[in-house]
Amino acid sequence: MRPMINVALPKGRLGEKAYAMLKKSGFDCPTMEDPGRKLIFENPEKGVRYFWVKPSDVAIYVERGAADLGIVGKDILLEYRPDVYELLDLGMGRCRMAVAGKKDFRDPVGQTLKVATKFPNIARSYYSGKCRDIDIIHLNGSIELAPILGLSHVIVDIVETGTTLKENDLMVYEEIVPISARLIANVASYQFKDDVINEICQSLKEQVEEL
Ligand code: PRP
Repeated sequence: MRPMINVALPKGRLGEKAYAMLKKSGFDCPTMEDPGRKLIFENPEKGVRYFWVKPSDVAIYVERGAADLGIVGKDILLEYRPDVYELLDLGMGRCRMAVAGKKDFRDPVGQTLKVATKFPNIARSYYSGKCRDIDIIHLNGSIELAPILGLSHVIVDIVETGTTLKENDLMVYEEIVPISARLIANVASYQFKDDVINEICQSLKEQVEEL
């Protein structure tokens, strides 16, 4: 019998799309389709167990082995650098990490640049590559408020449709990196459950290529 595979899915639209792909790969779990507040779903026949987790926590579950596989944004991988295998770019959840600011923003050359962000490590590494001295203001959400209220000069944040920036009279100044959802695996699971993990990875890869 093949081993049970544990999959951490990010709550929300991305997780639902990922589940649809996994279902197509033959790893369906009918109880998942019953709306409710349950967080764990299992289909013993198919040997799969799914958990719904906060998107930014997926990599933690996978890194520590509570999940064998997970679906996570590249932004989280770049920010937290978890010790996991990145197996596949799922080609969905596409957005970009960018520097944005007010339309009249001018870099205050000679002064420390104040950068508000949810992604301090990405911001630090980006500006250290440019040898720019910065002061990170670590916020947890509504980052766009920071330059408007004078809390920061710029923000480093995710831009998807660009609507949030536009509606707040902000604009992108520099693109840092494109982002999309990735399939990740726990390092030990990849060794001990390699057959099933490779089967899932291959099937998802074919679906991505069909898109
Ligand atoms: C993210 C991001 C931007 C917004 C970008 O925020 O931080 O604020 O989405 O999307 P858009 O380009 O399509 O407008 P999120 O919705 O996660 O909320 P937050 O403010 O709590 O971070």
